[in-house]
Amino acid sequence: MRIVLLGAPGAGKGTQCKEIVERYGVLHLSSGDILRRERAQGTELGKKAQRYMDSGELVPDELIVEMMAGAITNAPGAGFVLDGFPRTVRQAEELDKALEQADRKIDAVLNLEVDDDVVLERITGRRSCPKCGAVYHIHNMKPKNDGVCDKNGTELVQRPDDTEEVVKNRLRNYYQQTMPVVDYYRKKHNVYGIDANRDVDQVKAATFDILDKLASA
Ligand code: AP5
Repeated sequence: MRIVLLGAPGAGKGTQCKEIVERYGVLHLSSGDILRRERAQGTELGKKAQRYMDSGELVPDELIVEMMAGAITNAPGAGFVLDGFPRTVRQAEELDKALEQADRKIDAVLNLEVDDDVVLERITGRRSCPKCGAVYHIHNMKPKNDGVCDKNGTELVQRPDDTEEVVKNRLRNYYQQTMPVVDYYRKKHNVYGIDANRDVDQVKAATFDILDKLASA
């Protein structure tokens, strides 16, 4: 199954992708995670992306498309779930071109719909493990021991772009540049809207409900 998971910053895309991967065995391709890895490794791409990410701006399309296209077209047979990509109409068009050349198509487009005040609360309370990438929340998804990762005991950190000021800019850019992607897909696909203001398990159940039906159709 090839899935595009859309949604505002902090809508819970990464959280739901982990569940989707576990249930459907697809590959999780998160443009944000790939960029953070590039930064941690100090690559040219990571250096170029840094100032955009830290201020809440989108990284230029040409850098992102090149980074994602190969990973997507080379994904193994079980498929993938795209998280954070495409984020502009140009990225969506380039994705379509790459898939067409590989004789592949998107099976499901899901849109996690969430209110801005919920986004702010979720993102400013997010903490993650710098070692394994596990994501927690200071209220909603607490680690077993305060401030340390359940899996490896590493001290949890806050992403540099998770401050209130940067989140507001990320939201502005989301409305200007990424909302049009939802309309782009509506012209070609049935876009499934999911109320993502609910708790993780409720959002997961709604997501599985849609994907189970599509998988058995
Ligand atoms: P990216 O990493 O993609 O960030 P994002 O889209 O802003 O999304 P987030 O990772 O912040 O949130 P999420 O929806 O995954 O939420 P999560 O599950 O973690 O991008 C970062 C930057 O990279 C961009 O700003 C840009 O600069 C650049 N970039 C990336 N892709 C790009 C592209 N394609 N083009 C150009 N630039 C690009 O959940 C958030 C928190 O809430 C967590 O603490 C979690 O525990 C909690 N939570 C999740 N779900 C629930 C729930 N249902 N109830 C309660 N709490 C919940």
